[in-house]
Amino acid sequence: MKALGIDIGGSAVKGALVDLETGRLVAERIRTATPVSLSPAKMAAAIADIARQFKWSGPIGVGFPGVIYGKKILTAANLHPGFSGIDGASLFAKAAKCPVTLINDAAAAATAEMRFGAGAGFTGKTLLLTLGTGVGSAIGYHGVVVPCEFGHLPLRGRSAEKRVAASVRKARNLTWKDWGRRLTEYLAILELMVWPELIIIGGGVSAKHRKFFPFVKTRARMVPAAFLNEAGIVGAALAAAGAAPGPRPARRK
Ligand code: BGC
Repeated sequence: MKALGIDIGGSAVKGALVDLETGRLVAERIRTATPVSLSPAKMAAAIADIARQFKWSGPIGVGFPGVIYGKKILTAANLHPGFSGIDGASLFAKAAKCPVTLINDAAAAATAEMRFGAGAGFTGKTLLLTLGTGVGSAIGYHGVVVPCEFGHLPLRGRSAEKRVAASVRKARNLTWKDWGRRLTEYLAILELMVWPELIIIGGGVSAKHRKFFPFVKTRARMVPAAFLNEAGIVGAALAAAGAAPGPRPARRK
């Protein structure tokens, strides 16, 4: 059993075929850089192109960096504003000529990590954060994954992600120590509200966890995502196979 997992990010769209029994990528992933913020139609074309390159006509799961509300995309903080309010699953399904399931990108990453990765076998309350262009969040508990929007928690007067995203560290040239301090302040608030027993840190920067974990103090045990930046692809593929919560896939027309 395989499915195509696609992860839409702030700077690239990545896709790979995923073995649903093991969570492993079946073939090397395809990455399409999206330097400018792509319109929904162009994003749909990029997704269709990845499906075509894999000669894929089966189910596709798409991890999207925004709120998925029923069949609609409600927000897209770091993407083209045209995504707000559209039925993204139907748009992508029509372009790729495959059934498409949409899932929030952080919920996709959490699905993969709780099934096969850093949270595998752990049923206690788990907070997963993805640190990238923005900050994604989800809670895992007894096999259920709940998408959250903690990246938009007000912190010092603005959305937390404007202070603690990995993109902010780069843009502001923050030292690992200074960024670690910011993350400590942010995570202290999240810990007060969520009381996670385990914190999983995902996103591209999770590969560099040794550089900043020493500067982040949390009550809960904090670990890097086992799939590093590929958790989103794997979780999106699992969602396509009905392994994650979300609306039923939009059928191709
Ligand atoms: C979005 C989230 C998303 C996160 C990471 C935030 O700006 O609101 O839905 O999970 O970025 O991509």
